[in-house]
Amino acid sequence: MTLTNTNFKTVLITGGAGFIGNNFIRLFLERHKGVEVVNLDKLTYAGNLESLRDIESNPSYHFYKGDIADDAFVRRLFNEWHFDAVVNFAAESHVDRSILGPSAFIDTNVRGTMTLLEVAREFGVGRFLQVSTDEVYGSLGATGKFTELTHIAPNSPYSASKASSDFLVRAWWKTFDLPTLTTRCSNNYGPYQFPEKFIPLMIANAMQDKNLPIYGDGMNVRDWIYVDDHCDAIDAVLYNGKIGEIYNIGGGNEIPNIEMAKLILSKLGKPETLLEYVKDRPGHDRRYAMDSSKIEKELGWKPAKAFSEGIELTVKWYLDNEKWWKRIISGEYQDYYKLQYGGR
Ligand code: NAD
Ligand code: DAU
Repeated sequence: MTLTNTNFKTVLITGGAGFIGNNFIRLFLERHKGVEVVNLDKLTYAGNLESLRDIESNPSYHFYKGDIADDAFVRRLFNEWHFDAVVNFAAESHVDRSILGPSAFIDTNVRGTMTLLEVAREFGVGRFLQVSTDEVYGSLGATGKFTELTHIAPNSPYSASKASSDFLVRAWWKTFDLPTLTTRCSNNYGPYQFPEKFIPLMIANAMQDKNLPIYGDGMNVRDWIYVDDHCDAIDAVLYNGKIGEIYNIGGGNEIPNIEMAKLILSKLGKPETLLEYVKDRPGHDRRYAMDSSKIEKELGWKPAKAFSEGIELTVKWYLDNEKWWKRIISGEYQDYYKLQYGGR
């Protein structure tokens, strides 16, 4: 339970139909009864209202379809609700897509964030939290961790667009006194993650006896965090974070991709012959690892879910919710898959 020193009546959550956003809305409604939650989402290929079915009848939950980069629309929404706080999840989030077509990443992650900042400033929002990523720091060698003081060195169009939005957030705090907060998190996993991302892709492919595409030598390392732990950290920063600050959030679970793929195969009782080494991702960051000591010391947050339990729950969720991800891969996602893997 978050200790609150701030009272919000209305909160705008953007990108709430995506993976982390829908998990956050669920946690937030449960934890902060009586706060009105407005979910603004464009419903791109990654937005899915099916993921919010269990909460759509909650009287404190309100959905609006719209674009965070649409100035007139965003202004109308603020005029109607006069938000006390904003949590900006809305983004184009997939690195491979940013390599195939960066424009949408600039439109949403850069222009969209700027639009939200401008309107939030105009309406005097109490707290603006930008949900960012460890990818803005670039890549690590075999040792060391990213701290909040690590210099920004993004390597993909996705991470460059996120770094740009982080800088805009900083500028709106420094120049215009907008009370901003920024969180930077490592790789999330858990229920409702779109099956283009590594873990759900590996699970879905294994369940269908399809090959598991491993980029390069499979030795790239990611620091995995269960999505509920990320949501818990965002909630802690939203209510108790110090204005203008950046908070790193990590899971403390560094795992090479090939080990993760083998673990998933073993959990599903599938053979390692399904592993297929494919061409590497251009500019592929080698290793991410987060130093989360600031948020641990200042806000008393730490991840609660052991990786062994989190991955078990996640594999089970995809087994139990085949309909959810099969509907996705039978549609638009197929076109993207063909584009990337030549229809294999
Ligand atoms: P996602 O792709 O699953 O969801 C993104 C959501 O944003 C979708 O519902 C989409 O419809 C919506 N959206 C996209 N463009 C929009 C626009 N212009 N206006 C309104 N809505 C729009 O992404 P996710 O994995 O849930 O990530 C959420 C946020 O967290 C992103 O900002 C991402 O950069 C950040 N993040 C993700 C991770 C991770 O591991 N997934 C880690 C750290 C930070
Ligand atoms: O670190 C936080 C970031 O994590 C978020 O900011 C991004 O929104 C999120 O997409 C994620 O980015 P990654 O590029 O790390 O995640 P992805 O799931 O795409 O890939 C994880 C690792 O697995 C990476 O090293 C690339 C590799 N990979 C990925 C895919 C899709 C494969 O080997 N094969 C694949 O098919």
